[in-house]
Amino acid sequence: MASSFAVCRCQVRGGGRLLRTSLKLHTSLHTSAGTNVVAAREERARKDVTDEKDGHKSLYALQAERQGQAERSVLISYHSRINEKKFLKYLSKHGDINKYYFYESYGIYAVVEFGSREGVASLLEEAAIPSVNHEAMVPFKSRLLSLRNLCSADSPNQQSGPQCQPQTTVPINQLIQTLSKEGSIDQQVTSLTEAYQLTEENSRLRFLVCSLLKDIAAAYFPECTVRPFGSSVNGFGKLGCDLDMILDLDGISGRKTKMPRSGLSLEYQLKRANSERSATQSILSVIGECVDQFGPGCVGVQKILNARCPLLRFAHQPSGFQCDLTANNRVAIKSTELLYLYGELDPRVRHLVFTVRCWARTHGITSSIPGAWISNFSLTVMVLFFLQRRSPPIIPTLDHLKDLAGPADKSVIEGNDCTFVSDFSKIQLESNTETLEQLLHEFFEFYATFPFSKMSINIRKGKEQNKPEVAPLHIQNPFEISLNVSKNVNATQLERFVALCQESSWLLQQSETSTPRGYKEGSTPTTWGLATLLLPSQVAGIKGRKKRRLEPASVRIKGLLESLKNNQNPPKKS
Ligand code: GTP
Ligand code: MG
Repeated sequence: MASSFAVCRCQVRGGGRLLRTSLKLHTSLHTSAGTNVVAAREERARKDVTDEKDGHKSLYALQAERQGQAERSVLISYHSRINEKKFLKYLSKHGDINKYYFYESYGIYAVVEFGSREGVASLLEEAAIPSVNHEAMVPFKSRLLSLRNLCSADSPNQQSGPQCQPQTTVPINQLIQTLSKEGSIDQQVTSLTEAYQLTEENSRLRFLVCSLLKDIAAAYFPECTVRPFGSSVNGFGKLGCDLDMILDLDGISGRKTKMPRSGLSLEYQLKRANSERSATQSILSVIGECVDQFGPGCVGVQKILNARCPLLRFAHQPSGFQCDLTANNRVAIKSTELLYLYGELDPRVRHLVFTVRCWARTHGITSSIPGAWISNFSLTVMVLFFLQRRSPPIIPTLDHLKDLAGPADKSVIEGNDCTFVSDFSKIQLESNTETLEQLLHEFFEFYATFPFSKMSINIRKGKEQNKPEVAPLHIQNPFEISLNVSKNVNATQLERFVALCQESSWLLQQSETSTPRGYKEGSTPTTWGLATLLLPSQVAGIKGRKKRRLEPASVRIKGLLESLKNNQNPPKKS
């Protein structure tokens, strides 16, 4: 479930326009075994959305709403010279369009959401199988389509193609400049979150890719669903993050009927597997083959079946997403729900997580390549733990959330108690008024001095615990409590993290770096505050950490200030 797909260049144009037409629908809907299930789910979602507790939408409701939208959507490879109005007029012959937008990834794509699934069915009825000379095609029909312009003349008002908004994060240098223009560290943190978080369109596209994958898996399991989890939905996703998906077969568990009057009942005959793990491996292996051989747009399929959590990894080219598909991974769904809940409780949670994740990535503390680095998930848990340790705490402990749970929240997965409250209105927060600036500084201070050698980070208790094993960094897995989520982290990586926390904490205390420098429109802003913490020169600072330890503090500080000055006055181009 590693990070971003480097080649992804995804740009989106927000559509949001409601196109109403009065055209009749002549085509019947494709029916599948899942149709009623989907309708019921959408109905439930509509209810849940209106039943928002305390102004918070539940993750379940959000997901069901997005799934409904995705199932009414198609993804169309678009030609930049095709007239947009003509395109929409053509589509709206098939039904009302709720929303459409364009983005760029190996060409321009349009996501079109119809008002109903009939619109999609009607459009698909009209779509043709391409005829290609010298090549054979697998006639697997999906909602990924290509638009062909059969007329040669282009409309003169559409020479530049549809407008696409950037959908990847801004380059770090640009972000540093933007942040330096802000008037306070609090504003910098907020601005960073806004620049990095997933947009509405990117989030919809993630659900659409899940829905397209579901259509492939449905060839074997018509009642399955494919759901995103992890940062795509937990509220901490950054533009360009990977798409973690779960193939959910739980809905196929079969009806438990009461003793029928006839005294007879039927059961499906099923193949048996040695264990749940081997059943998951077989399912993913077959689906992987299908995605590889028949899945339009899916490339580089790898079956990673011997991992602790077996998965398929591939790139979905039309969206630019690096995808990981797992099955039978219910604990990860619970972790996603928990992170979402914490993020919803107080806006400072998301702001701090985004900032710390960005800071860590800039300095190579986290990486998209698997290795001995701290993962984004571990880092997020570290931020949550820190927020639980504030006085008064900003977020409650997991044990407290468990105490507040009602009977419907009860969840035990493979012997692990994953119960916690889902009703936001039951959670009483304490009145902590710390600013983002204070929290950021205190975060660095907290981990610069944390007794990692003896203690474990534990968000269930909200208190450090004695380390049960010798791993350099021990973060208790919130639900599988005997596991350490940061088992992979080696001593060197932990040392780098601690050193970076020390340096960052120190920098935030210096008036040269922690006060706004004033910015005049049109001039180059002077780097300050959070922007300073993201400067790449810090990496060099960390690399030279051992050497500097021997230097007196004054020498070290002088060196850091010197490096800051150099960064603020880049050499002029000759
Ligand atoms: P990015 O992909 O880096 O943006 O973050 P992510 O949160 O999506 O992380 P990742 O793709 O590595 O993992 C996806 C999800 O799997 C996480 O959000 C967690 O819910 C879960 N997960 C990942 N690693 C662990 C782990 O070590 N233990 C547990 N319990 N869950 C994990
Ligand atoms: Mg992920």
